[in-house]
Amino acid sequence: MKKRILFVDDEPNILKGLQRSLRPMRNAWDMVFAEGGENALKVLEKEPFDVIISDMRMPKMDGDTLLNIVKNKYPMTARIILSGHADKAMILKSMKSAHQYLSKPCKKERLISTINKVCTLGDLLNNSVLKQLLGKIETLPSIPCIYSQIMTELRSSNGSAAGVGKIIARDMGMTAKILQLVNSSFFAMPRHISGPEEAVVILGTDVVKTLVLSIEVFSTLSKGALSVISVDKIHDHCVKTGMIASKIGAQEKMEQKKLDHALIASILHDMGKLLLAEHFTDDYKNVIEIVHQEHLPFFKAEKQIFGTTHAEVGAYLLGLWGLPEEVVKAIAFHHHPSKVVSEKFELCGLVHVAQLIEHHEQRQPGMWETLNGVDEAYLENLGLKGKITLWRDFIQQK
Ligand SMILES: [Fe+2]
Ligand SMILES: [Fe+2]
Repeated sequence: MKKRILFVDDEPNILKGLQRSLRPMRNAWDMVFAEGGENALKVLEKEPFDVIISDMRMPKMDGDTLLNIVKNKYPMTARIILSGHADKAMILKSMKSAHQYLSKPCKKERLISTINKVCTLGDLLNNSVLKQLLGKIETLPSIPCIYSQIMTELRSSNGSAAGVGKIIARDMGMTAKILQLVNSSFFAMPRHISGPEEAVVILGTDVVKTLVLSIEVFSTLSKGALSVISVDKIHDHCVKTGMIASKIGAQEKMEQKKLDHALIASILHDMGKLLLAEHFTDDYKNVIEIVHQEHLPFFKAEKQIFGTTHAEVGAYLLGLWGLPEEVVKAIAFHHHPSKVVSEKFELCGLVHVAQLIEHHEQRQPGMWETLNGVDEAYLENLGLKGKITLWRDFIQQK
């Protein structure tokens, strides 16, 4: 089915330009171009849209006001702001109403890939239970501001690792947490890292920006949610999973880009738990009760209560935030990699195995021979069954 995309701008020439440059997409998308916010709302009343992309500064109704209305009336429409004003206050403002922020001028390829990513996500997780559940959350969290500032820095022509370091350094709390993490034993750094810029140089911008994202996400929980789940424990598990995934990936000779993505996916893989505990605190208490009483893994208990799992919920949100498709997929299927057709040992499988190894290591360090809960069909198909003890020994080597 064709995706429905609504473009909004107050300048007719910009809309015409968009229409012209996006013509090659007309077989994949139904595109509507609305002049100003009021017209956009009229169009939305007639038919639903998958994605809305709005200019920020418009005379009668600005993009932020428009997207706030869309957020309330059509919560399942993905909202993107396209703005020429990359100042901090403006990004901050739009981040409350938009899922994603793109700065003008935005290259056609980037615009297309952003829209495509948001749409693929809808297909990947085309699950009405999930949509209904997420529809109940009044405001799905927006991408954290510091993360989008880093993204803007990286996309600008003079963006640099030093620039990213400076953005982090402006936030003292974040700086302290980043340094604590990178100097912890997880990362096995050859020397002590003393500042965010140094962390960026050594670990790379991809890894550092994921850590920033995970710290932000893990720190926004309310007291209610914190009474139900242990954020530190989940964060710890996620970061350790990342380290394990990196080691196995390296041993399996995965290319660097894949290793980076594996680390990102691992660090964020259980993020959906936070979202569920935050927005459905009482239901999540029931999940925990089932986990303890019936000795079930979380995703099975969640399925009983919500009809969906933290894997899908987390993947959905991270997809809206524009994380790479491969990362989103790996998170969505981290309990069942065999649901993704694959001929090779890919990210979904790597994150799956790494998070199970992490759980086993917590319980019986170095003692286990098999992985309970492993997706047998997946390992069988790829001929990987014999590798488990090999990987175990490998990750235990310092
Ligand atoms: Fe999980
Ligand atoms: Fe996990």
